[in-house]
Amino acid sequence: MPRIDDIATPALVVEGPGFRHNLDTMRGARPGPALRPHVKAFKSTGVAQVLAAAGHTAFCCATIREVEGMAAAGLGQDLLLANEVLDARRLGAVAAAGARITVAVDSVETIAAAAQGGVREVLIDVNVGLPRCGCDPDDAGRLADAARSAGLSVRGVMGYEGHLMDWADRDAQAAAVATSMTELRRAHELVGGGLSSAGGTGTYDLHHWVDEIQAGSYLFMDTHYARVGLPFVEVLSVHTTVISVDRRRRWAVTDAGLKALGMDHGNPAVHPDDGEVFFCSDEHTTLVPGEHGGTWRVGDRIRLRPAHVDPTIAMHERMLVVDEHDEVIDEWAVDLRGW
Ligand SMILES: Cc1ncc(COP(=O)(O)O)c(C=O)c1O
Repeated sequence: MPRIDDIATPALVVEGPGFRHNLDTMRGARPGPALRPHVKAFKSTGVAQVLAAAGHTAFCCATIREVEGMAAAGLGQDLLLANEVLDARRLGAVAAAGARITVAVDSVETIAAAAQGGVREVLIDVNVGLPRCGCDPDDAGRLADAARSAGLSVRGVMGYEGHLMDWADRDAQAAAVATSMTELRRAHELVGGGLSSAGGTGTYDLHHWVDEIQAGSYLFMDTHYARVGLPFVEVLSVHTTVISVDRRRRWAVTDAGLKALGMDHGNPAVHPDDGEVFFCSDEHTTLVPGEHGGTWRVGDRIRLRPAHVDPTIAMHERMLVVDEHDEVIDEWAVDLRGW
């Protein structure tokens, strides 16, 4: 087995034991169909196979490409595209080939697109407070009627409370989730159907009514989610190499930057904590010494914990899984990138 330090950098690395802890912790709280893992977080049929083997066989997708790839990998038992689309023909083709495809709709236009594209099942996407997709709860019944008139089967409702994911005050967060789910519940009464879907990593334990939670980040975590105090551990890092050190040792530069790290939630963190990220540019991250050190030399290996897991993974072609001895024990292709 190669050791991770023998692999060329930048390399996206998953710590296997922590990954297993995250998977088992979530599975304990939301076993089998109580979790619909969100493929957008990892974009990998290899990871999805691990989840399916753990009992989660229904998946959430964010792109048509994810739906197509999951079905092609034999994971098309129950795929929800939790997103609106106006050209559903590719989804219809996947359904015609035998996969179970459900698409989120929040307008007469997206309902017409689903029907014309050959999709047979929809969920009414309800806005529960995040200024993104989803219909007004009062419109949900009208849209369900329109969908049924168009020949579609309405499975129920979904509502993503993305604005409530990363609250530090858990009591306040629980109250806010309950309020937003009151809206989803009201919509569900108007819509009918047996399924209600909501939630994410930050709210996975605050739902007492919905059938399934749509979480994905919990498997890997990031510095942003780590601040919330959830029982999941950070296991993802971009391994880099120091390629240049300032003559007076004020800074060091590694070989991965903005094109290897999702930065919309802030800078990555040096792991373990032996310096700080000063800034990232396209292909470089500049480190400065922190409280705990920072005497780097050219050739040193540095691990950077990303601030946002989803865009970080989407920038890489593969993830390498290591054991507790830093030996590479598996490799997952990030094969669902693109659209
Ligand atoms: C529709 C939807 N559901 C659920 C999630 C939750 O994912 P996470 O596990 O990152 O909290 C997301 C994340 O953006 C989402 O867009």
